[in-house]
Amino acid sequence: MPDNPTPRSREVTILNGPNLNLLGKRQPHIYGHETLADVEAACRKLGAELGLAIRFHQSNREYEIIDWIHEVRETAGAIIINPAAFTHTSVAILDALATCECPILEVHISNVHRREAFRHHSYVSAVATTVMAGAGTHGYQLALRHVAHLMG
Ligand code: DQA
Repeated sequence: MPDNPTPRSREVTILNGPNLNLLGKRQPHIYGHETLADVEAACRKLGAELGLAIRFHQSNREYEIIDWIHEVRETAGAIIINPAAFTHTSVAILDALATCECPILEVHISNVHRREAFRHHSYVSAVATTVMAGAGTHGYQLALRHVAHLMG
């Protein structure tokens, strides 16, 4: 995959890993009070402003995330992914992302580097063009703005 790929379309797929369906209820002192539906709505609103078509998915199942990557690997302009706990475990998601030529933006709501040692290693970072952590749910919007920036 190229080091600094340019988005080839205005389609952006946003993928969320396990337990992010509980955003807003789950450890709000770490992940905040916004729900995943709030995050999706904010991404869709910003996407419309930036002229980006948004696909937004969440799954607790590794294979579903892999299947969504395969679905868009030849068409997506960019993939924004918060792999959640799979960040630290999944060679399979790493391998799926490695088949994509578009920019890959890894987003974490919390600053994983300030947390437990097992959260410091990310398999996904090896193929990510951009890594963002600790901006809260606003990180998704920062990632979308960066995709628009890459499009020029
Ligand atoms: C997370 C950080 C991961 O370590 C954790 O397993 C998550 C969420 C984040 O967004 O901060 O579920 O990816």
